[in-house]
Amino acid sequence: MRLGLFGHGAMGRLVEARARADGHEIGLVLTSRDAARGAAELAGELRGHDAAIDFSVADAVLRNVEACARAGVTLVEGTTGWNEQADEARRIVAAHGGSLVYGANFSVGVQIFYRVVRAAAEMLSAAGGYEPFIEEAHHSRKRDAPSGTALNLRAIVEEAARAESVSVASTRAGHIPGTHRVGFDSAADTVTLTHTARSREGFAAGAVLAARWIQGRRGVYEFAEMFDDILKG
Ligand SMILES: NC(=O)c1ccc[n+]([C@@H]2O[C@H](COP(=O)([O-])OP(=O)(O)OC[C@H]3O[C@@H](n4cnc5c(N)ncnc54)[C@H](OP(=O)(O)O)[C@@H]3O)[C@@H](O)[C@H]2O)c1
Repeated sequence: MRLGLFGHGAMGRLVEARARADGHEIGLVLTSRDAARGAAELAGELRGHDAAIDFSVADAVLRNVEACARAGVTLVEGTTGWNEQADEARRIVAAHGGSLVYGANFSVGVQIFYRVVRAAAEMLSAAGGYEPFIEEAHHSRKRDAPSGTALNLRAIVEEAARAESVSVASTRAGHIPGTHRVGFDSAADTVTLTHTARSREGFAAGAVLAARWIQGRRGVYEFAEMFDDILKG
């Protein structure tokens, strides 16, 4: 595949390395220097790419979605912190018959963690007497808090445990790799489940996998939906 990259920071560079190692070619690479450029101009430069992968900033997401949709290029959206613009992104993709796969966490381990947390929340809710809580910690460069992954975990726990407004605590300091802990506390004991990212390479591998998976598909998919499809074999 020929891949375009929005963002060439910590994640963008890892995606480039992973994509090249898998035999893909890198075309357009955009950074903050391109912040003022519009969707129409970028669409012209994106034509001829098979997919674009975005790990940039939330402010640039709608422009990037529109540029890819106009160019007919599938988009893997890894940037976080743009939930409030999700409806607009869906509208843009639908208007151009485009395709988009997005997710706050492209790690395979986290996808499994989501499913384990759902099962635990269902069981502990059925048992009764347990109150859920979520804690997350990341390096100080991470801009959004709570993390997109923590928001997903909260939605999963609230649905599975039929709980309301589950508490989420966020820490931003130093170089902490992404850490998410889901706890269920009762008068008798506490059950905790923790996922700790050891490196960001798992996210890059997931992004390249998503770029392959979405080829030939139309519409908007969550990374979790893609993972369900892959699990089905
Ligand atoms: N989905 C996942 O699995 C996952 C995993 C990790 C991180 N993330 C998210 O991915 C995003 C990027 O993370 P990161 O750690 O790679 O951040 P980073 O190191 O700060 O890199 C951000 C990159 O975006 C570029 N940029 C800034 N404004 C831009 C614009 N308007 N247009 C195009 N590029 C622009 C920056 O340009 P300069 O190089 O000029 O500064 C930089 O290259 C964050 O939202 C983070 O939360 C998601």
